[in-house]
Amino acid sequence: MVVVPHSMVIIYFLHFLKWVEAPPPRGGGGDPGWCAKHIIKGNMNIGPVFLSVPKTISNMFSAEAKDVASIRLHGEFGIEMIIYRFGKVRELRVKVQLVGFQVASSSMDGFKAIEDSQGGQFCLFSGPRYRRVSINDITRGDHHAGNSDSDRRAAAENSLCSFFLLLLLLALALYEVNAQPLVPAMFIFGDSVVDAGNNNHLYTIVKANFAPYGRDFANHKPTGRFCNGKLASDLTAENLGFTSYPPAYLSKKARGKNLLIGANFASAASGYYETTAKLYNAIPLRKSNASSIISDSIYLISAGSSDFVQNYYINPLLYKVYTPDQFSDILIQSYTDFIKDLYKLGARKIGVTSLPPLGCLPAAVTIFGSDSNECVAKLNKVAVSFNNKLNSTAQSLLNKLSGLNMLVFDIYQPLYDLVTKPADFGFVEARKACCGTGLVETSILCNAESPGTCANASEYVFWDGFHPSEAANKILADDLLTSGIALIF
Ligand SMILES: *[C@@H]1O[C@H](CO)[C@@H](O)[C@H](O)[C@H]1NC(C)=O
Ligand SMILES: *[C@@H]1O[C@H](CO)[C@@H](O)[C@H](O)[C@H]1NC(C)=O
Ligand SMILES: *[C@@H]1O[C@H](CO)[C@@H](O)[C@H](O)[C@H]1NC(C)=O
Repeated sequence: MVVVPHSMVIIYFLHFLKWVEAPPPRGGGGDPGWCAKHIIKGNMNIGPVFLSVPKTISNMFSAEAKDVASIRLHGEFGIEMIIYRFGKVRELRVKVQLVGFQVASSSMDGFKAIEDSQGGQFCLFSGPRYRRVSINDITRGDHHAGNSDSDRRAAAENSLCSFFLLLLLLALALYEVNAQPLVPAMFIFGDSVVDAGNNNHLYTIVKANFAPYGRDFANHKPTGRFCNGKLASDLTAENLGFTSYPPAYLSKKARGKNLLIGANFASAASGYYETTAKLYNAIPLRKSNASSIISDSIYLISAGSSDFVQNYYINPLLYKVYTPDQFSDILIQSYTDFIKDLYKLGARKIGVTSLPPLGCLPAAVTIFGSDSNECVAKLNKVAVSFNNKLNSTAQSLLNKLSGLNMLVFDIYQPLYDLVTKPADFGFVEARKACCGTGLVETSILCNAESPGTCANASEYVFWDGFHPSEAANKILADDLLTSGIALIF
């Protein structure tokens, strides 16, 4: 649940609380002190003006928003807390966050995202009134309606809506005000899509610790990430409030205190199918050392692409023996076991990314396409079918393992949209990747001498033949967060 007044609307929210306590019919009918009693854990933390979700959502969690939050807490807001008898809030380490943004046309997607995930309507603050509106109202601009009596009536009639809002507010435990990340730690498992440098320490050809990899990363340093800059998992860590990334488990950084924020066990070319890892002498996914697991941490699993594109489809021992569907089943079994293992170790918040549209990866189009530059339908079909299995398996795991909170993050559709409508998202090129010719290169084929590497990777959906650019990862990560909020609480 997300409450959406923009920065100034904090004032209106306070009005709203007042209204809750005021007698009916003009007020909500709570007794004096109702808010203090029922919202004792509540607090309002108003970020900067947000222009659009999903950006809004990431802003919400970003350090920037948190700074604003704490300034307000110690500034004017402190006074208001006293007015509203929220004096105890600070000691209780407030957990509720109220998020603001401006109702602008660019917010529509965000509204929709929120509406879809909440399956409900909005309580829209517009001036010192609160009313229930639907997406259509907002689109028509009805929320700009003035101070008319009908507006006031609507506000009164919608007291239910307002209480609903309050209840949801109470349930909204976003993060603690003392600028802690939303979760204590984050553990990452998977393949090259989320490898933050484990493969640097392995004897394998699947590496990315040389230029031009990392050229847009901090200090322009290659780290082993298969990207020009940040991975979707890095951006997710930022979105969750971490100021550094869970270190690659095999790196020197993965020692002592650094491990307290989690670890990244992802290894390029590893996957659900253990031989995928063995093939490249990478870390087998299931053998990752995760003894320091904490149940509140987020576990992000992103695998399966390597299993298909770097194993199944190029390995006659697999593709001659199994149909894609059978191979999917093997992967799903392995994924099920893996989740069960994590669960046994104490993991309770698990996010699994779906397969991307495999047939749209530049290298896949080059290798498996028919000279048409179109996404390879056959591969995409396999991905969709795998994703459906992933989804239903997640559902049955949820039914079996009590206390488990698990989500399948769909990255298929967002990436497919980027590929098929790049201009809509500000990209210039989606067929070719930035590195080299952009048709196949990845890992050692994408190097400082590769001819043709583009100047500005932000114009490209893909950085190399298999991996999205940082700019695309940003969109994926924002999307992931929008759907992943449920996992955080
Ligand atoms: C796993 O981590 C624990 C504690 O960090 C350590 O004692 C153990 O040796 C590690 N196991 C492996 C297989 O690396
Ligand atoms: C998984 O299933 C849920 C509910 O059945 C659906 O809302 C969601 O879109 C599905 N996700 C994927 C990745 O297919
Ligand atoms: C790179 O491309 C992006 C997206 O088109 C654009 O916003 C940015 O200004 C470009 N950067 C440079 C240095 O040209």
